[in-house]
Amino acid sequence: MYLLIPAAGSGKRMGADRNKLLLEVHSQPLLAWTLLAAEAASSISWIGIVSQPTDWDDFKAIIANLNLKKTIEFIIGGSTRQESVYNGLQALPKEANHVLIHDGARCLITPDLFNKCAESILHCSGLIAGVPVKDTIKIVDDQGMIQDTPNRAFLWAAQTPQGFDVKLLKKCHDQGLRQGWEVTDDAALFEKCGLEVKIIPGEETNLKITTPQDLAIAEFIIKNR
Ligand code: C5P
Repeated sequence: MYLLIPAAGSGKRMGADRNKLLLEVHSQPLLAWTLLAAEAASSISWIGIVSQPTDWDDFKAIIANLNLKKTIEFIIGGSTRQESVYNGLQALPKEANHVLIHDGARCLITPDLFNKCAESILHCSGLIAGVPVKDTIKIVDDQGMIQDTPNRAFLWAAQTPQGFDVKLLKKCHDQGLRQGWEVTDDAALFEKCGLEVKIIPGEETNLKITTPQDLAIAEFIIKNR
């Protein structure tokens, strides 16, 4: 299975002065934990890290330090996640029929979840990992007033990995570019194109590290594994 790791973000919401994937949890950069899980997942054979060239020296040092054996390519990132994934798709080897996309910032993923997604995408054209939400969710307007309370029974929090048929996802990205759609995950492009996306159970611990609090939670989870 081919795996793209969007890793071209900044550390803005983290309040960091560099790519948050270089911040350390339990003595390893976030990206190292993500790569260790991918290396341990028997289904993954090729990894593309979509990132800014200014981070490549640091990322290469992480890879050398972990002594990873899988094929890892570097692909130039874009100014949004959507653009980064677009670039990643163009850089996939010709023979790639399916792809998993996993945010570098979800460094607590287990190899087992990679393997489950890799197996499932062979039987459908689009899937994402997700978990049912525990909170009641409110739709709020820009005045801070609640507009609606959707039925929680139908609400899931989207995670990555997200897996797709490569040809279809490329078409959806092209359509998104033409129409000017701006989305925060790839499933949304599939949905907007009227294609089905299956949700498979993700992991409660598969957090996206976004704030300093998330770093502390990640530290706790990794220490206790
Ligand atoms: O910022 P956020 O954590 O939501 O980004 C999700 C993932 O997308 C991160 O792993 C980040 O590095 C990546 N990203 C990217 N290119 C961008 C912005 C974010 O690859 N321009």
